Amino acid sequence: RKSVVRITTGSQALDELLGGGIETLCITEAFGEFRSGKTQLAHTLCVSTQLPIHMHGGNGKVAYIDTEGTFRPERIVPIAERFGMDANAVLDNIIYARAYTYEHQYNLLLGLAAKMAEEPFKLLIVDSVIALFRVDFSGRGELAERQQKLAQMLSRLTKIAEEFNVAVYITNQVIADPGGGMFITDPKKPAGGHVLAHAATIRLMLRKGKGEQRVCKIFDAPNLPEGEAVFQVTSGGIMD
Ligand code: GTP
Ligand code: MG
Repeated sequence: RKSVVRITTGSQALDELLGGGIETLCITEAFGEFRSGKTQLAHTLCVSTQLPIHMHGGNGKVAYIDTEGTFRPERIVPIAERFGMDANAVLDNIIYARAYTYEHQYNLLLGLAAKMAEEPFKLLIVDSVIALFRVDFSGRGELAERQQKLAQMLSRLTKIAEEFNVAVYITNQVIADPGGGMFITDPKKPAGGHVLAHAATIRLMLRKGKGEQRVCKIFDAPNLPEGEAVFQVTSGGIMD
């Protein structure tokens, strides 16, 4: 039996909200408006995943699939230093690939699974999981096909999480809620419909606070405690 590993986010408040950090064997999704911290959390996890277990890391390598071209290796350096790690060694343990179409994104996952069978990975990032689907299936009447392909991709991610005891961290965009009822206080909702809602075990809703402050709330998880965590985006990554 594989046992869950919890990987620190860099913020104690956020770790507490998550019950210790982001978990292996499942998918954690972060959604929120632009600059809400989704990609910065990904950068921090690239480093913290490599920490030893007793320092709340995962003692493993990281795979990063980037669909938006926003991964910044130079951002990894101060984050590694903050955790007292050698930046070059940390960078060497991040396998990075840029995806240009949803098919390319899917094929990259197949290649990564082969790699994960040989080397100890503990984190797979897909930032963003949905952007290419929204581009590649933007036509009228393409939604059903898009959702079908998205479901396939997500099921592949779930398999990777379970087979290799890896944490999967995906980011998602927000879209205007066409429902727009009078009791809806936040007109934004995550993209991807129930296909994504069903695949993501933990859904994190991020929003901007004052200055570098960001606020995270667990979205739609009746079995987890209500509450919010406030954290900061700094050059050393996510912290309290
Ligand atoms: P989108 O991908 O545009 O939807 O946004 P996001 O949620 O991925 O936001 P991201 O994580 O890229 O940005 C969060 C914040 O981090 C922004 O306010 C940036 O200004 C800030 N940020 C980015 N790089 C640095 C840095 O090197 N140092 C500090 N202190 N902040 C940074
Ligand atoms: Mg981003």
